Amino acid sequence: MWWADAVVYQVYPRSFQDSDGDGVGDLAGMRSRLDHLAWLGVDALWMSPIYPSPLADFGYDVSDYTAIDPVFGGLAEFDALVKEAHARGLRVLMDVVPCHTSIEHPWFREHPDWYVWRDEPNNWPSAFGGSAWTRRGDRFYLHSFYPEQPDLDWRNPEVVAAMQDVLRFWLARGVDGYRIDAIDRLMKDPELRDEPPAAEPFGLPLTDEEAKLARIHALNAPDTAEALATIRAACGDAFLVGEIYLPSAKWQPYLEHLDAAFAFELLFAPWDAGALRAAIEATTSGPGAAWVMSNHDFGRLATRFGAENARAAALLLLTLPGAAFLYQGDEIGQRDGPPGESRYDRAGRDRYRHPMQWTGDPAAGFTTGTPWLPLVDPWHSNVEAQRDDPASMLSLVRELIALRRTLGDGLRLLDAAPGVLAYERGDHTVAVNTTGDARPAPVGGEVALGTQSAALRDGTLAPHAGVVAAGRG
Ligand code: NOJ
Repeated sequence: MWWADAVVYQVYPRSFQDSDGDGVGDLAGMRSRLDHLAWLGVDALWMSPIYPSPLADFGYDVSDYTAIDPVFGGLAEFDALVKEAHARGLRVLMDVVPCHTSIEHPWFREHPDWYVWRDEPNNWPSAFGGSAWTRRGDRFYLHSFYPEQPDLDWRNPEVVAAMQDVLRFWLARGVDGYRIDAIDRLMKDPELRDEPPAAEPFGLPLTDEEAKLARIHALNAPDTAEALATIRAACGDAFLVGEIYLPSAKWQPYLEHLDAAFAFELLFAPWDAGALRAAIEATTSGPGAAWVMSNHDFGRLATRFGAENARAAALLLLTLPGAAFLYQGDEIGQRDGPPGESRYDRAGRDRYRHPMQWTGDPAAGFTTGTPWLPLVDPWHSNVEAQRDDPASMLSLVRELIALRRTLGDGLRLLDAAPGVLAYERGDHTVAVNTTGDARPAPVGGEVALGTQSAALRDGTLAPHAGVVAAGRG
């Protein structure tokens, strides 16, 4: 399977490359940057949604599943992108949003029975705060996310058939798989019962409102796997990676139909050797981990884990066995935008979505117009400056991707000094120092790659350093 150990590069289309000067990235721009992805050595690109959308949730509110939003281009441009990606050996993954549509999708007007309704709200909170129910006429519709995103009723066979058509539509145009959005919200309790109070911790971060309640009725109903089986039936052997907001111990029924699930335990682990080890241990006890440490919802490596740790974080991400997802900009250590006001996203996620920094110019080579979100700091990190610098983060990430191909199978966590995460990957040993002090590392063989020069000296890892060494620990 091509995806078993693949590096998948997440493109946030609005912010990757603009080709027409309107300040918003587009498909022609994406196509013009495929050489960057091929040069970096990734296996595939996943693009966040490019369908027509009123942008209440920046594309995750879809108003037509089988078209391209004009801001990104059209189907001819999409076909050209897929063709050119394939010509470079790059697979293409789309983002499919099956749980909810946009409130402006014609289905909501034409097929109200395709959605979930109740005479009165129950106590389910929406993921973005407040009740998950909004009144329309004399009834209330369910929205697990924003009110502009009504939830589809996956127990209605017409919904299943319509979504299967969508999946087949893009596969027929050549896409190689899907990242499937918000799977945990696909199926709810058929009786829409109130959630009882929480009896045990959920295992992943929740809003205060959500954390008070047991998460047993509003999401992950037992027949979720049946819904996934219908998705698999439409997709053949295309690669399917699920966004399942659950600890990995609960993935099993989902992975009967999906190839992989995002490993949220690692994404949320603080930069601490013990916490990272626990997350990896939990997630690797079963199959199907898709590793991810950054994305358009939670921010980039250099801000999440600290600029001083970004290289070691990339080394960790790219040496774990299984598919690894790299968010655009992380290869140059791009930082998030400043915290504070979010002009577009009501949940405050603008800062994770600023444009890609290709050059050191004020608009960073992203656009000739006014960027929809300002550039963060192109003078500080950009592709052009880092490309020919052997000491750059970009060079490190490229070398890590190449080295990854030679590591071999299997992962064994090793005992190490406090603050040091260490594991055998195939016939190599990886060690990461999560602290600001030099620490001993259980590494014997010759260093194949380090996050910095002299990352390892006399068996001691430099502060914030990581290494991949030949031989077992
Ligand atoms: C997960 C997506 O990554 C996020 O951006 C979106 O807001 C929710 N799902 C709802 O679709």
